Order: sequence, then C-alpha cells, then structure tokens
Amino acid sequence: MSALVLENLCKSFGKTEIIRDANLDVETGERRAIIGPNGAGKSTLFNLISGRLRPSAGSVRMNGAEIGGTAPHLLARRGLSRSFQVSNLFAGLTVRENLMRALLRSHGYGVSPFRFPMGNRALRADVDDLLERSDLTSRANTQAGELAYADQRSLEIAMTIAGKPSVVLLDEPTAGMSREETTRAIERIKQMTENRTLVIVEHDMGVVFSLADRISVLVRGHVIATGKPDDIRKDPRVQEAYLGAEHA
Ligand SMILES: Nc1ncnc2c1ncn2[C@@H]1O[C@H](COP(=O)(O)OP(=O)(O)O)[C@@H](O)[C@H]1O
Ligand SMILES: [Mg+2]
Repeated sequence: MSALVLENLCKSFGKTEIIRDANLDVETGERRAIIGPNGAGKSTLFNLISGRLRPSAGSVRMNGAEIGGTAPHLLARRGLSRSFQVSNLFAGLTVRENLMRALLRSHGYGVSPFRFPMGNRALRADVDDLLERSDLTSRANTQAGELAYADQRSLEIAMTIAGKPSVVLLDEPTAGMSREETTRAIERIKQMTENRTLVIVEHDMGVVFSLADRISVLVRGHVIATGKPDDIRKDPRVQEAYLGAEHA
C-alpha cells in the first residue's frame, strides 16, 4: 500500500512552471529522502502535498484518497503532518507546555494555550513519551525561547509528530546545524518517526544515505530518479544533475 502518491503533479507561478509532471510513490512505513539542487522545487513540492499550495494539474493521493488542495488543518486531522517552523513555538512557554499544547486536540480538547489540563494522566504520559523520544526530558521546564537552536528544532519535530500522524514531512530539519548536532538530530528523528512514513528533504548527503530507504531526485521540478541509496549514488543522471548545478 502506498502512503503517498503524486501523479503528473504540476505547479506554475504565473508563467513559470516550477513543478513539472512530478511522479512519486512512497510506501507506507518507508523513509524517503528528496534531494536536488537549490531551487529545484523541493519546498514547493511539500507545499503542494501539505495543502499550502493548490496544484495547477495532477494529483496528490494519501492512502488512496485524493488530497490535492485540501487545507493543511484538515490534512493534519487525516494524519499528514509537516514540520512546524521555529516561529510556531511559543517562546514564553516551557518545552512541556508546548508539547502539551500540541497534544490537546488528539486528547479531545480545544486549543487553549493558557489553561493546561495538568491532571490528565494520559496526556501527561504522552508528553513524557515525546520528551523522551526527542531527548528533551532534561529541558522539560525550560522556556522554548531559551533552548539551543538544535533543541528548538527537536521540539519542533516533536510537535509535528504529537498528533500521531501516519505521514510526516520534514523540510531540511538539520539546516543550520553543526555536523555533531546533525548526527544527534538524525538519531532523534529516527526515534521520533519510528513506524511512520517519513518524507524528508535534506541537503546533507551523509545523512541522506544513512537515513533513507529510498531517495528521489528532483531537478527543475521533475523527479528524474528514484532508488536505493547505492543505486542513486551510482546513477549518472544524478551525478550530472549535481555537477551541472555546481557549475551553474
Ligand atoms: N510563491 C512563489 N511564487 C513564485 N515563485 C516561487 C514561489 N515559491 C517558490 N518559487 C520559486 O520556485 C522555485 C523553487 O523553489 P523551492 O521550492 O523553494 O526550491 P527548493 O526548496 O528545492 O530550494 C524557485 O525558483 C523559487 O523562486
Ligand atoms: Mg527548500
């Protein structure tokens, strides 16, 4: 069963075609990396999948159902979650409070950020589980705004998976991190996305080749290759696309 299928997906801004006949088929439970030169359209592709942009043509299906153009909050309820931006964190709330807030809906509460149902044991247990998976237990009572950058990004991912989505989209989650922070972040991402379908845009090739089950290569809005890491590494079209981009 495919978790996510893109079929001949297109997106133009004015007369400029950014995504051209993109095809992608991600299996349930798979970890898929999307790589490609800067400006290839990776973030635009995520915006089309997550409902921030409406496709010009083509289809996006999740678990067999057409979702192209569906609003992000509706997709979230159907189990598709895209990483929050750091700016979505409440800087003045603690890590625990941010996580609790992200969990409210899945525990049947409305979103009211300033009154937390601290007495709800199931909710507290879910918060503790997220703290552990994201390696933030020792930071639970720190205000999100006071966290180191790498920890903020971990919190962001923890909030992304809080609603137990089946499909998780992460756009360059290790951007701006040192090599050491990147290695730790990837371990956390593995822990946090276990048993879920993960689609990740990542520029660090070391990370991509160690994390992904399969890799898709996007060049000028078109998926030019999909395969296992070793096959992608050897693919002359991929090498050419990257070399071409570096010489551009
Ligand atoms: N809302 C928009 N309006 C016009 N052009 C856009 C918009 N969003 C992205 N683009 C253009 O689409 C191209 C692909 O951008 P993007 O998807 O961010 O690439 P990537 O994430 O692969 O670096 C870029 O040339 C960018 O300028
Ligand atoms: Mg991008």
